[in-house]
Amino acid sequence: MAEQGYIHCSAGHDQVDEMLEVVYAQVSDPLLMLVIDPDRLTSRWQLDEVPSAARPYPHVYGPLDLDAVIDTAPMTRAPDGWIYPWLTPSIPVAGPVRIRAADEPDWPVLRRWIVDPQLRTYLGGPGDPARADAQRGGMYGPGGFALEVDGQCIGFVTVRPRVTDLEVSYVVLPEHQGRGYAGAALPRVTDWVFATRPTLAQLVAVTQAANVPSRRLLESTGWTELDRFVEFGEPQVMYALSRSRPTVP
Ligand SMILES: CC(C)(COP(=O)(O)OP(=O)(O)OC[C@H]1O[C@@H](n2cnc3c(N)ncnc32)[C@H](O)[C@@H]1OP(=O)(O)O)[C@@H](O)C(=O)NCCC(=O)NCCS
Repeated sequence: MAEQGYIHCSAGHDQVDEMLEVVYAQVSDPLLMLVIDPDRLTSRWQLDEVPSAARPYPHVYGPLDLDAVIDTAPMTRAPDGWIYPWLTPSIPVAGPVRIRAADEPDWPVLRRWIVDPQLRTYLGGPGDPARADAQRGGMYGPGGFALEVDGQCIGFVTVRPRVTDLEVSYVVLPEHQGRGYAGAALPRVTDWVFATRPTLAQLVAVTQAANVPSRRLLESTGWTELDRFVEFGEPQVMYALSRSRPTVP
């Protein structure tokens, strides 16, 4: 504020990463990320063009109200760059379901998604256990959301690139299905994705045409049919969710 007349902020994780490279490349002290809800600011703010930046950056022209800071996350320096929890801001609890970043202790549940015949009914049949175990280390990181009920992981939502889109997939263990857990969690995750990627127009999901629970889940949470095609030898339906539905900060 004192030096520039405004507080420089970022809109989306891509801009945070860009700033860490450009401005904080020589910094080694730990930093703290402040997550700001612009609707709670009393100071004026606006998006300003910045030379050579792909998108305008938000600038706050006045003091930052503490009430507008809705979350914080530690940022620490590693030899090859900055590390911070990718699931920032955290996702509010959705009914009985807590949504957090998937991590190594969730492996037994994730493994069932790959090898369990019941869960794989509409997913091409059970995968090879040895191949599943070989994938173990690469299954975590950005886009892996664990669903937790009463402290126990009961399923996942994942958001991963599919050609030029971001594709959403989901699973709830058979013994926890039919209780509204996926229906509660999915909109929270998709709201979070849109809120942290301001230029993303839509998300996609692909499900077998015969997968009635999956299609019901999508249709009851605002997704609409986009395309039909055959993949892995089965008729598939591609759904889209547009960002025009209301988002959470
Ligand atoms: C799809 C899946 C995640 C749904 O999880 P869930 O927690 O049981 O879903 P919910 O209880 O929140 O129900 C969501 C909607 O689906 C409907 N539904 C759930 N199970 C159903 C079933 N067996 N038959 C018909 N509808 C069903 C619910 O009625 C609800 O719709 P509504 O709001 O209109 O009533 C779960 O069935 C699953 O894990 N399937 C195996 C993995 C899979 O196929 N994933 C999809 C491709 S990635």
